[in-house]
Amino acid sequence: MKFLKTMLNVALPKGRLGERVYSMFEKAGFECPAIKENNRKLIFENKEKNVRYFWVKPSDVAIYVERGAADIGVAGKDILLEYSPDVYELLDLDTGKCKMAVAAKKDFRDNPEKTLRVATKFINITKNYYASKGRDIDIIHLNGSIEIAPILDLSDVIVDIVETGTTLKENNLEVIESIVPISARVIANKSGFKFKSELIEPLIQSLAKQTEDNK
Ligand code: PRP
Repeated sequence: MKFLKTMLNVALPKGRLGERVYSMFEKAGFECPAIKENNRKLIFENKEKNVRYFWVKPSDVAIYVERGAADIGVAGKDILLEYSPDVYELLDLDTGKCKMAVAAKKDFRDNPEKTLRVATKFINITKNYYASKGRDIDIIHLNGSIEIAPILDLSDVIVDIVETGTTLKENNLEVIESIVPISARVIANKSGFKFKSELIEPLIQSLAKQTEDNK
């Protein structure tokens, strides 16, 4: 490989999804063995491969990429829909799959005459969804444990991510409407993509091939 002075800065979401995605980057030739050491470091680099990884909070990946602190990153489609960051969306990795859905208590009956109280972390997705249906809502912005809201009558319904459905089930809630499927996406900073295309393009090609092979 031609010697490149620039490093590719990659923001990965901390946690199981990030680890799975790192293995894909590793297979694509961007390995960084230090990342597997069991410690609490957040930045790892492999100068020979011109790559530097950061572990960041999943919901923050798009901020690092949009502002150019990272050239590329992996973020859930939920975050991209919610915050509309000014980045390129390069690839659907077809992993980290779940859906955005409306859920309610099993005995919930909607009364269209009344404003619907909706608890969620995803304000914009929720507003857009109900605006498209022409439904009046009162949004209750929570930061987590959203499933509690209908149980305590803080809200009528919730808009949240459903993966296995276990959290809903264990709290006696059920999906009443599906909004959008979600999966992990590779995103790129707009100028980073231009200046580091020699590094990014082969990486994306390999990730796309691995994604196809895993289907
Ligand atoms: C997410 C989501 C649900 C749960 C769904 O929460 O908000 O609570 O996962 O997963 P399941 O369908 O497999 O049960 P997360 O763990 O991200 O934490 P949060 O409570 O901070 O949203």
